[in-house]
Formats: sequence, structure tokens, C-alpha cells
Amino acid sequence: MQIIKSLAEWQALRKNLRHSLGFVPTMGNLHPGHASLLQASARENECTLLSIFINPTQFNNQDDFQNYPQTLAQDLALAEESKADYVLLPTYEELYPDNYHYQISELELSQTLEGAFRPGHFTGMLTVVLKLSNLAEAQRAYFGEKDYQQLQLIRGLSQAFFIKTQIIGCPIIRNEFGLALSSRNNRLTPEQWRQAPYFPAIFHSKQSCAEISAQLEEKGFKVDYVEEGQGRRLAAVWLGDIRLIDNISA
Ligand code: PAF
Repeated sequence: MQIIKSLAEWQALRKNLRHSLGFVPTMGNLHPGHASLLQASARENECTLLSIFINPTQFNNQDDFQNYPQTLAQDLALAEESKADYVLLPTYEELYPDNYHYQISELELSQTLEGAFRPGHFTGMLTVVLKLSNLAEAQRAYFGEKDYQQLQLIRGLSQAFFIKTQIIGCPIIRNEFGLALSSRNNRLTPEQWRQAPYFPAIFHSKQSCAEISAQLEEKGFKVDYVEEGQGRRLAAVWLGDIRLIDNISA
């Protein structure tokens, strides 16, 4: 596995790469959910590129950005185990030569659900995904269905800008209690870990969105939304200062 720290180095390498390439963009703090994306890429492509970049422009909350876990040594070990061939570690200066003066905004879906609670999040996410996709020039790119709205927006971006990379959504990976794996779970306190399983248990029940919302509030979650749309039920809740999201087919 080759670790690449500059865009020039990656671009030189990419130019001579004749193998099919799968791309897994991440913000690091990798867990088995990311491993499943890398493994899917390794099955479907001759080479896999993983990028690790904590993208500041997609954080609407500065504390969340400051506290985002940085676990490079562990990430590299998981990447190697999961058969990544290249790991790109770009800097803000290299990825944003424009200092974010150019932005990709979507005006409809991005205003709802996550977008309504996290202003600017999807603009930052779409902007960095376009930059990274242009750099990777991959045949396929892999995204988890946990961030379902993100995946829909990336599919839309890809169509709107004629991106040649095929966008592949991969199933949510859950822990033994049904909680969707997320880098943010690592920040849960032991008490919150005991409470967290109520989220999937209630959310996956066959009740209405309003009933689910009320039960989650009763169990101590602060609910941002529980909503259904496009054949999907989606939710976001807070446990203390940790935000958890989930979705299932409705
Ligand atoms: O899902 C993520 O980890 C990020 O939103 C992504 C797609 C890597 C863009 O920074």
C-alpha cells in the first residue's frame, strides 16, 4: 500500500495507472463500515484508492470539526487489511487552492432533512466530492447508505456534471445492537452506549414517524427529525452532544 501526500504525486501516478480503479473517499477514523466499502472496491476493481481528508467546509459546527477523531495509524492498518492500494492524504491548501470561493450547491434535496439542520453541510460535501472525484478519475466510487441523503446528492451531482465515475451505494453496517456504525459513535460515553441501542430498536419498529419520535424523546433522545420520503424512513437524533442518524427502506 502506497501513501501519497501530495496531489502532484497522485496525479503523476494516476497518469500511468492502466488498471481499473475504485475510489473510497473518507474523513478517516475508519471502522468496519469503511472496510466494507474498501472490500467492495477490491472485489470490483484491480486497484483501490482511499482518501482521508477531514473536510472543514462540510462541518456546520466548529466543535464537531475540532473534535473529529484523528486516528491515522489505525486507519492505515485497516486500509491495508481491507486491500487498499493507495491512500491519498491531501491538505486543505492543496484541495482548496481557491480557499472555497468556488462551491457546488444543490437547491432542493439539500435543503431538507440533514440540510435543514446542518446549513452549508451539503455544499461543503458536494464541493469536496467533486474535487476528489476529478482527482481520482476512478471507474467506480463507493459510499455508504448510512448517509442516505448524501448518497442521493452525490448521484445527482454525478448526473448534473457528467461525472464518468459510477457511484455505488453500499449497505449500512450495524453493531450487535443494530446501531449504524459511525465515526461519531466513538465519542459516546459508557452511559450513552447503554442508551444508544434504543435508537435502532425504536426507529426500526413498525410505528408511525410521530410515534417513533415521541418514544425516542421519552428515552432521552433529542429528535431532529423522523420522516419518510422516496421509499425511505430517515431519522436524526442527539444523545448529549453526539448526533446519530439512520435510515431504512419504508
Ligand atoms: O461521508 C464522508 O465521510 C464524507 O462526507 C465524504 C464523502 C468523504 C466527503 O468529505
